[in-house]
Amino acid sequence: MKSCTACFATSGIFSLISSCTPTQYIAGTVGKDGITISKNDFKVSGKENSAYRSFIIIRNDALQYPICVYRFSDEQYSALWMKCTHQGTELNASGDFLQCPAHGSEFNSQGKVRNGPADQNLRIFPVVILNNDLFIDLRKQS
Ligand code: FES
Repeated sequence: MKSCTACFATSGIFSLISSCTPTQYIAGTVGKDGITISKNDFKVSGKENSAYRSFIIIRNDALQYPICVYRFSDEQYSALWMKCTHQGTELNASGDFLQCPAHGSEFNSQGKVRNGPADQNLRIFPVVILNNDLFIDLRKQS
């Protein structure tokens, strides 16, 4: 398990605890039109009920690139295609932003470019909340 200096320095502050948890990779359930995951996939096991990861990554053989799903609240999420819009390198998730290992482009948790050389935002898929599940609609994108 990775440790994080910020966590030790600020233990007790929930937002930093959740950002220091190991990245959660899941496969999700692939359907004809998209992928379904559970809200529970964001829960940090072993923590109190209110501890959630800020993002999880869907990695699945059916996908050419992973999808990073950010959780802003119980009702607000974003699903980002982890393909750099500069030259197509797979992005790395780094807390509340995504970074490209090839030439350093960065994108925020809404998929907007925050550092070039990329000059286009990431593909974003709609996230539909169905009770305790999240359906990521791969038919549509923006
Ligand atoms: S491919 Fe990502 S910055 Fe160039």
